[in-house]
Amino acid sequence: MASNNAPIVVLDSGLGGLTVVQALRRVMPGEQIVYFGDTARLPYGSKTAATVTSFVRQIILYLQPFGSKHVVIACNTATALALPSIRKEFPMMQITGVIEPGAKAALAAVEKLANPVIGVIGTEATIRSRAYVAAIQKQRPEIKVVARATPLLVPLIEEGRHKTDPLIRLALEQYLQPILEQKPAALVLGCTHYPILRALVCDMVGDGIAVIDSADQCARDVQARLRERDALQDPTPKELWLRCFVTDDSPRFATLASRFLGVTIREPEVVQPDLLYAGIVAQSPAELVAGAGV
Ligand code: DGL
Repeated sequence: MASNNAPIVVLDSGLGGLTVVQALRRVMPGEQIVYFGDTARLPYGSKTAATVTSFVRQIILYLQPFGSKHVVIACNTATALALPSIRKEFPMMQITGVIEPGAKAALAAVEKLANPVIGVIGTEATIRSRAYVAAIQKQRPEIKVVARATPLLVPLIEEGRHKTDPLIRLALEQYLQPILEQKPAALVLGCTHYPILRALVCDMVGDGIAVIDSADQCARDVQARLRERDALQDPTPKELWLRCFVTDDSPRFATLASRFLGVTIREPEVVQPDLLYAGIVAQSPAELVAGAGV
């Protein structure tokens, strides 16, 4: 069994999952985090369940030497397509995703309303999977869920375009219009990239619609699970302990990472996908304790 000092592993197709790292850090400032961004193989959002599941499996196996106490699949697409089978494959590990927490936060926002409508935006794969619809309607079958794929948003964000960019606004206007026509009470940002557009989305949809991203709820759920197992680290705020792996260190890394995380992080370690396909595992996991920080 993992010790309380063991890190929390956070994985994503790219750097968007750093929004979840930020939320984990806010809720549990004492925890150490290992982040894996599969930047060489992004996007996951246009791939099949078999492919995404094999990528997630490879990453979990690669990071196994860290002996993590919890794994967060901080990618809506990977949660939607791979979480159930990955949990079956690794029954001894604590693995959670971002869709249940996102659905939970949306349900809380419409709790007092009769027959509300909830809008969801995400990648093509997430929307096609109907994972959000299932998670919401499992709790309240009468809720109408209007879900729409918004595939242009990830490349626009990855390109470094900001919320003030007219292309971002135009894409959002077109994507959101059919959802807004259904008068939703809440709108779920069902992709780890979208929280950085949150202020713009709030502005565009107006005050009457709760805009939900799953990062905070996800972090609170991880905290509750660790507390239940008595596996929380001393909560005294510490310097951020983050060891960051990527599969491709693009020149965009530093800019994007600081946009998603809110602080600058030092150079990531690059793991060539070939190593993942070959089943090679991470070396020197103890270095996390020796100090690889911001
Ligand atoms: N991380 C993915 C998600 O949250 C978005 C990027 C991708 O398509 O890989 O769905």
